[in-house]
Amino acid sequence: MLRKGVFLGIKPADSDFLFLILNCFKKLKTNTGFKSGVTICFILMFNSAVFRKLEKNDFRTLTGIEAGMKSYQWVPLEMIPAFVKLRDKEVAYRIGRLLEFGLVKKTIMPYEGCKIYFKGYDTLALGTLTRRGLSAIGERIGVGKESVVYEGIYDGEPVILKFHRAGQTSFKQVTRQRDTGTRDHWIFIAGRAAWREHEALVALHGSVAAPRCVDYNRHVVVMSVALGCELSKTTVDDPDWFLDRIIEQVRKAYKLGFIHSDLSEYNVFVSPGGVELIDWPGYVTKKHPQADYLLDRDVKNILTFFNRKYETVRDNKKVVEYIKNM
Ligand SMILES: Nc1ncnc2c1ncn2[C@@H]1O[C@H](COP(=O)(O)OP(=O)(O)OP(=O)(O)O)[C@@H](O)[C@H]1O
Ligand SMILES: [Mg+2]
Repeated sequence: MLRKGVFLGIKPADSDFLFLILNCFKKLKTNTGFKSGVTICFILMFNSAVFRKLEKNDFRTLTGIEAGMKSYQWVPLEMIPAFVKLRDKEVAYRIGRLLEFGLVKKTIMPYEGCKIYFKGYDTLALGTLTRRGLSAIGERIGVGKESVVYEGIYDGEPVILKFHRAGQTSFKQVTRQRDTGTRDHWIFIAGRAAWREHEALVALHGSVAAPRCVDYNRHVVVMSVALGCELSKTTVDDPDWFLDRIIEQVRKAYKLGFIHSDLSEYNVFVSPGGVELIDWPGYVTKKHPQADYLLDRDVKNILTFFNRKYETVRDNKKVVEYIKNM
């Protein structure tokens, strides 16, 4: 039974958002390899009850503040109606609601202004993605250095939702950010990381075994679920075969001009059919000044892991040469 199910089948209807619970949660249990079955839970930064209460003009006001943040560290209150393109009174009412829901932050110093942070940004991205095909969000399955990862359903299919979260690891960094320029808002930095990951997944699709990019909005990348599990969490029967498969994918990516640059046993999924390389926002191209160093490091990480765990012996230099010589 679905007890804490999160919803999302939400489509704008007049000024309100209509709440539809989709039956597709049942599919989570029966059709997918999800580790969590139907134990759906609420996500940290995102409150489904709030999401359901949001109206069209709330979204419009949030979007207006987002636009204002391209020019301001704190968007001056008196400027917000111009960004939102609604009457002053309506905007004041909407800001009151958004503050109550915790989706915007307000300052009074050095002037009265608003901005959104990840909670508001999550809401905007999910608002867009639900209009395009996202119907459910499930269990949190990963928290990385720079992201939070959830299961979801998009167009009836299981997907992974990766919320990029630049600057979340250090409170000091977040504080320091207040003194910097407007373009350095953490939400926009996270947005750029998501854009990079989406770019890589699209470019690699069809050639390299990596998740398929299903959709992308703001700081969220929707991608296919990698088969199997992380190399770091399992023991494979035929390490040489898997190592060859990984090297082959690194070679194919290199052929397209891409170097992963964060390759390790944590970013490789293994299944009986082969391997998939995940986590691409940090990729560099062959032309990058550090390209050789980063390719060498990627190979070293993988070979060291196989050597430590399976005593597989390969020569780093020869493997790099093989990858480069096509
Ligand atoms: N496409 C996917 N399919 C299945 N699981 C995934 C997928 N993408 C991410 N995950 C899960 O989420 C975790 C974190 O994802 P990812 O490595 O992309 O993010 P990250 O923030 O860069 O993490 P880290 O900093 O720890 O490398 C992964 O280790 C994996 O368990
Ligand atoms: Mg990772």
